[in-house]
Amino acid sequence: MTADRAPEPLDDRRRRRVLWALPTGLYVVGSRAGDRRNLMTANLVVQVATHPKLLAVAVDRDAVTAELVTAGGCFSVSLLAREDRAVVRRFVKPVAEGEVETDGEGRATAMAGEAVTEEVTGAPVLGRSAAWLDCTVRHRLDLGSHLLFVGEVVGVGGPDGDVPPVLRMEDTRMSYGG
Ligand SMILES: Cc1cc2nc3c(=O)[nH]c(=O)nc-3n(C[C@H](O)[C@H](O)[C@H](O)COP(=O)(O)O)c2cc1C
Repeated sequence: MTADRAPEPLDDRRRRRVLWALPTGLYVVGSRAGDRRNLMTANLVVQVATHPKLLAVAVDRDAVTAELVTAGGCFSVSLLAREDRAVVRRFVKPVAEGEVETDGEGRATAMAGEAVTEEVTGAPVLGRSAAWLDCTVRHRLDLGSHLLFVGEVVGVGGPDGDVPPVLRMEDTRMSYGG
């Protein structure tokens, strides 16, 4: 770039459409700090290392999930069956405290009417998940609008054989990011 030539302004709308076109899955991220728990619909989730097994989740810095993952140091990722897209609509706003059901030992059993379990870290996992990953936070990066939490996979659940195709953004009419 030369000093006398200003850079071409980026076409914001085109940029957003192209970013939206990046294929992503659609997941439910579980978080927990003490007695506080949340479930959040998220597509900014990707594996970022193989040794150790690291999974990155980008969370809006103002989201309840960002607060809970920071304080609790863990998160879970529930993968959903492809036809299960209705469930993600339930977790686009924080789960209220009154919507959390617990058993006699204080373990969460349901959130917003959806059965949940607690696994290795204690972060809630959707009972109807096709598979799940449970992670301990190893890195936290401030990216501006979002915080990137990188977690090591310390727990996993799913079928004995192949995991059936799971929910992706393209299965819905939703978009996020861009
Ligand atoms: C399709 C879809 C994908 C989303 N993906 C993300 C995401 O990757 N990261 C994020 O922070 N919020 C994402 N959101 C927004 C959150 O689901 C929503 O704002 C959330 O409930 C706020 O988080 P909280 O419940 O932790 O406060 C997405 C929303 C939709 C509808």
